[in-house]
Amino acid sequence: MKIKDFLTVADYTKEDIKEVFDCAAKIKARQKSGNPYTPFKGKSLGMIFQKSSTRTRVSFEIGMNQLGGYPMFLGANDTQLKRGETIADTARVLSRMLDAIMLRTYDHKDVEELAKYSAIPVINGLTDMHHPCQIMADMFTILEHKKKLEGLTIAWVGDGNNVLHSWIEGAPLTGLNLKMAFPKGYEPDKKILARGKEIAKKENTEMITTNDPIEAVKNADIIYTDVWTSMGQDAEKEERLKAFEGFQINSELLKHTAKDVIVMHCLPAHRGEEITDEVVDGQHSVVWDQAENRMHVQKAILVLHILRGQKLDI
Ligand code: CP
Ligand code: NVA
Repeated sequence: MKIKDFLTVADYTKEDIKEVFDCAAKIKARQKSGNPYTPFKGKSLGMIFQKSSTRTRVSFEIGMNQLGGYPMFLGANDTQLKRGETIADTARVLSRMLDAIMLRTYDHKDVEELAKYSAIPVINGLTDMHHPCQIMADMFTILEHKKKLEGLTIAWVGDGNNVLHSWIEGAPLTGLNLKMAFPKGYEPDKKILARGKEIAKKENTEMITTNDPIEAVKNADIIYTDVWTSMGQDAEKEERLKAFEGFQINSELLKHTAKDVIVMHCLPAHRGEEITDEVVDGQHSVVWDQAENRMHVQKAILVLHILRGQKLDI
């Protein structure tokens, strides 16, 4: 790993992604065998959360702890950011005491600003535009279940949001075909999609958009969805509920997929909206594996970024 920060999946080369997966598999195996990998004695991670979280907080906090390091939670009301201290000054101060910072926030520019002024690695724990740690963990989960990524087709059914943006960046770099269905008016960011399509062309993978969920999921190996109303969009909830009618993942939609399809959701799920109970709790669902793998994959990301340039013995 050469780069300091991890802000978007596109920051990684294909080789970097593979390195994260290999490292995550080793760290996970050691943890499960009762002989945890603990290279982080005396190292600390600051975790700044400007939005709510269950998985991201617990996976980073416990992951850092398992690595032998110290995680520090800094909630939205806890720092001087709230009272107007600049991101740049916060970065300068935290760089003198911590070994890495994870930030979950609204504006993607804020995570870029933090990275620019930090001497230590900055990891994006979700912004309005990207959720890169989620997609790294999800691709690792697919690899565990399907033993490969190349040549498989993932169908996204839902909003053109932060999670989809990270998929658009990650899928072509790992050989996954990506078919996306979203209602008109809820398209992903134009620039991210255009760049994704360029990479897909170069890597010889498919990247297709449609407004028809059935067309997207036809013969898909993986189906993925996320909430229709992301954090920060609560005022739009009612209009979104109407716009996304017909975009629910239910057993009827699963009839159109490959027989051994796996169903994924980054969680939290709004059961009964974007996905039904029978599907989340059904035999095709791998959502709990996804959640657990957040921890294993993020441990690898922390190790590879904080100890970059050092020889690792995992
Ligand atoms: N998937 C995910 O990031 O969950 P949290 O919002 O609970 O962290
Ligand atoms: N798109 C969702 C993802 C939550 C993990 C949101 O931003 O709220």
